[in-house]
Amino acid sequence: MDLRGAVAVVTGASSGFGELTSRMLAKEGAAVVLAARRAERLEALAAEIEGRGGRALAVRCDVTEVADLQGLRDRVDEAFGRCDVLINNAGIPGGGRFEDLSLEQIEQVIRVNLLGVLVCTKVFLPMMLDRQRGHIVNVGSLAGRYAAPGASVYSASKHGVVAFSEALYYELAPRGILVTSVNPGFAATEGFPQGRLPSALVMRADRVARVIVDVIKEGRAPEVSVPRGMSLWQAFRVLTPPLYRWGVRTATGRLGTTPAKSRR
Ligand SMILES: NC(=O)c1ccc[n+]([C@@H]2O[C@H](COP(=O)([O-])OP(=O)(O)OC[C@H]3O[C@@H](n4cnc5c(N)ncnc54)[C@H](OP(=O)(O)O)[C@@H]3O)[C@@H](O)[C@H]2O)c1
Repeated sequence: MDLRGAVAVVTGASSGFGELTSRMLAKEGAAVVLAARRAERLEALAAEIEGRGGRALAVRCDVTEVADLQGLRDRVDEAFGRCDVLINNAGIPGGGRFEDLSLEQIEQVIRVNLLGVLVCTKVFLPMMLDRQRGHIVNVGSLAGRYAAPGASVYSASKHGVVAFSEALYYELAPRGILVTSVNPGFAATEGFPQGRLPSALVMRADRVARVIVDVIKEGRAPEVSVPRGMSLWQAFRVLTPPLYRWGVRTATGRLGTTPAKSRR
């Protein structure tokens, strides 16, 4: 897609990947609609983008509220009359042993990370179908391909995002709309500081933002891992499950993400 003049909606634009991706999209000439709950941050980013000659619209939106998402869609429709790119990026961590998580924490992770993606897509899809054009990018995670001990609910939410993206890709590609799940590994951001990990395993957040923008420009779908080589591990998991599981237990034990008593 040529991003010059395109209209891109980014959820979770107030920090991390969403903020960086919004800046890059604006630099490429797209009009960006910035959505998240912290409106003051969105306003500041919109002012920065406009100050550099770009176009930006800040809209306060909680992705767990259907009315907020419908309001976001209406604002986009009023301001631009179309949506070429939807980036479902808003997400929260859900780490911790399952037994230690409250029902409220479990529900919130699923509502933001999974239902938020489904409902936002549902709300924006008619605008794309009308024009038979668009690209939906869902920010999944490598935890959506590899079940991560110590993050069972987060992994479940992201496995849902990856599966949804691929199924929807088959449904919509013949109608001119691409769907891609971009699955990043570890990057240090506000919600995901990665303080306990060796720095060699943690990438810069702008690397992920760059991949998101390139996926749209190059029309890549339905799944892209960051770093790219991580997708090869899927073959290892499918072809040699016992060896793969031994590797996960060993690696996560060493990284301290699995409590000693649950190591086997
Ligand atoms: N960082 C990593 O290592 C990593 C790895 C793989 C995948 N991811 C995924 O990448 C995405 C972005 O995360 P990030 O690392 O950039 O973290 P981040 O800096 O904490 O950004 C999260 C964004 O989501 C927004 N958000 C959270 N709850 C929301 C809600 N209910 N409604 C609307 N917006 C909401 C936050 O904005 P407000 O608080 O202002 O609403 C914020 O803008 C997430 O989906 C995350 O799961 C991250």
